Amino acid sequence: MEFKSGTKFSRLDAAVLDSIPEPVVVIDHQRDVVAANRSAEIDIGVTYPGRALALSLRHPAALEAVDQVLAGDPARTVEVTFPSPSPRTFDLIVAPVPGDALSQSSSAKAGAVLVFHDITAEKMADQMRADFVANVSHELRSPLSALVGFIETLQGPAQGDKEAQEKFFGIMAVEAGRMKRLIEDLLSLSAIEVEEHVAPQDRVRVVELIEGVVESLGQGAEAKDMKVIVDASEDTPKVLGDSDFLVQVIRNLVENAIFYGRAGTQVTVTVRPMDRLAETGGPGVSVAVTDSGEGIAREHLPRLTERFYRADTARSRQLGGTGLGLAIVKHIINRHRGRLTIDSELGKGSVFTITLPAAGPK
Ligand SMILES: Nc1ncnc2c1ncn2[C@@H]1O[C@H](COP(=O)(O)OP(=O)(O)OP(=O)(O)O)[C@@H](O)[C@H]1O
Ligand SMILES: [Mg+2]
Repeated sequence: MEFKSGTKFSRLDAAVLDSIPEPVVVIDHQRDVVAANRSAEIDIGVTYPGRALALSLRHPAALEAVDQVLAGDPARTVEVTFPSPSPRTFDLIVAPVPGDALSQSSSAKAGAVLVFHDITAEKMADQMRADFVANVSHELRSPLSALVGFIETLQGPAQGDKEAQEKFFGIMAVEAGRMKRLIEDLLSLSAIEVEEHVAPQDRVRVVELIEGVVESLGQGAEAKDMKVIVDASEDTPKVLGDSDFLVQVIRNLVENAIFYGRAGTQVTVTVRPMDRLAETGGPGVSVAVTDSGEGIAREHLPRLTERFYRADTARSRQLGGTGLGLAIVKHIINRHRGRLTIDSELGKGSVFTITLPAAGPK
């Protein structure tokens, strides 16, 4: 840490200030930097003891708070955001420091100490919570509005019209089903989150599990004239897992491949043993679900596992999707200490690959 010579700073002060993880800057009554700890230098770029604070802290709201404190106001807190390199937000606490504590002269005017408390993570969490609530409300509102509309029609104009009634009840059932799925997916996400840090302990025969899921999705595939093939190596080991959750993973991936695959094409689920997983260093199993669909543009790939994120919103909604499937997959795979990777080529199709640790000999 650097501090201005001729001040009352000691080596002990410097050592103490440098050990504080938050940026701390001390200024005199002229707004010149008297001392700045290491975090101030690294995190907010304030250095140069003896130079004007405004040269390295170009933030109007912060400087205004500083001026007010130097003019005699009590301590104050302002929120400041630094845009680069990546945006960071701090609660900046500006507190007065007696002049004779700073300088040898007993008549020196008061200075100030600036402490920057990083609240970037809290801000992001707040934003995510707000976005999530907005998304859930929006997703629930559309089917609910449809239901309310049809109920009114059935009570009014469509009263006594058998044909219209039948048609409307059909649509209402679809919309109510969509709401039910959304709620079920949300509940399953929160159930997974609660258990995310508990390692699963079952020894799961993953090939049989996959074959079961594929069979249960047969009708959906047939409706699009599609085939789902399971290509599994015979020496595939059991995995350390939680069967119910792994069923959800495979179902979501194969459902997507059928939904977003082209009619008449084939979906392949390839299961292979692996010698060494990056996550655990031990053996494992990889499961790759390959479709021949429209594929996904590169810019969407990193965000696909976010809740409610869709590459093609209109298409997903039309197909009855909630946009939660891959978020669920990612959380479950994390809990299994596995990995999800997505490869896709526009116009050709996509491959969703998961890896899972093997159960090992008993
Ligand atoms: N195999 C695929 N081919 C092309 N796009 C895909 C594929 N799988 C997923 N996507 C894209 O990723 C988005 C997110 O998928 P996700 O499974 O999370 O949601 P969804 O399928 O829309 O709804 P649901 O929650 O009902 O599964 C989809 O909306 C779609 O745009
Ligand atoms: Mg899906």
